[in-house]
Amino acid sequence: MQTYKIAVIAGDGIGKEVVPAAIEVLDEVARLDGSFQFEWTYFPWGCDYYLEHGEMMPEDGLETLKQFDQIFLGAVGMPELVPDHISLWGLLIKIRRGLKQSINVRPAKLLAGLESPLKNPENFDITVVRENSEGEYSDSGGRMHSGADEIAIQNAVFTRKGTERAMHYAFELAKNSRQHVTSATKSNGLTYSMPFWDEVFNEVKENYPDIDTAVNHIDALAAFFVMKPQAFDVIVASNLFGDILTDLGGAIMGSIGIAPAANLNIEREYPSMFEPVHGSAPDIAGKGIANPIGQVWTGKMMLDFLGHQEAGARILNAIEQSLVAGVKTGDLGGASSLTEVKNSILQSL
Ligand code: NAD
Ligand code: IPM
Ligand code: MN
Repeated sequence: MQTYKIAVIAGDGIGKEVVPAAIEVLDEVARLDGSFQFEWTYFPWGCDYYLEHGEMMPEDGLETLKQFDQIFLGAVGMPELVPDHISLWGLLIKIRRGLKQSINVRPAKLLAGLESPLKNPENFDITVVRENSEGEYSDSGGRMHSGADEIAIQNAVFTRKGTERAMHYAFELAKNSRQHVTSATKSNGLTYSMPFWDEVFNEVKENYPDIDTAVNHIDALAAFFVMKPQAFDVIVASNLFGDILTDLGGAIMGSIGIAPAANLNIEREYPSMFEPVHGSAPDIAGKGIANPIGQVWTGKMMLDFLGHQEAGARILNAIEQSLVAGVKTGDLGGASSLTEVKNSILQSL
């Protein structure tokens, strides 16, 4: 029997509710499969930890995490008590960068039993490959002057290595998908970063003569997500563009509460981190009404990455069966609680 050592960081807000639910589903799938099991180790890191200790996780937190096979994370953020840039750079982004999880894979497709807000949602099936360690998310910049003359500068950093890595990953994914990659750019408005991005895309695509490509400015691409999401297979996007596009991806599926994500260390040198697209949702936290599907589907992505595609497929089937049966939380127009959705998925496995 294979045992996977998983570090669990439920984090803040609804992270604390959806993570235990997803763990129940993962344990049940493992039991049904019979060839593997999970050993969960819980870390109470997040904003509560910060309020007590003055840091989001201990100094040696990254070293601790390196001892695990993978990391399963809920969400981070308690914006009323801890400024977001402190909580996120102290935990989520720190782990992504520190453990070189440079690729963020975020699928968006229409599940059975779901109602999309789109008029023509039929059969879209998109995978956004988001560059996850650089780009617009940088700690380079500064603030100067004050009063009416105050200036804030935020630099975006695009390296050839990081950009090529994300693009190669997207093309490799497309090989096993519908042989199409769209690059999200904005080289009409940005003078250095995106012209560079386009140049690298043109170079990388030469290695994949069988893959068709398209290039869209991110503004137009966002509109196409709404008007004709079927036009896309794999999309490669910078850190910020990919972030925005994938909340939209969640929304066109029916809710950002169901959108999954995987922060991958593709070299498998360090653990990867599996964490849904949504945040800690302070507006509904503690009420037992959060949708656990995003976290559960994220668990499926962890199984896939561990090589258990069959068990992973079982999870997605169970999610769909449960949706078809009409067991839905409020964000999907239903009236079921988190626990009811979790139980329905467990029964459908
Ligand atoms: P959010 O994703 O937390 O919430 C946006 C909206 O979607 C809210 O109305 C929320 O109720 C709803 N929603 C989100 N997940 C849901 C679910 N599972 N079920 C039902 N409804 C759901 O985004 P936000 O409000 O911008 O951010 C709140 C906090 O979370 C902030 O501190 C932010 O920085 C943080 N955040 C963290 C992560 C992360 O840790 N991965 C991701 C995004 C935002
Ligand atoms: C996400 C989140 C984070 C991001 C925030 C909370 C820093 O929105 O995982 O999508 O922008 O990467
Ligand atoms: Mn986001």
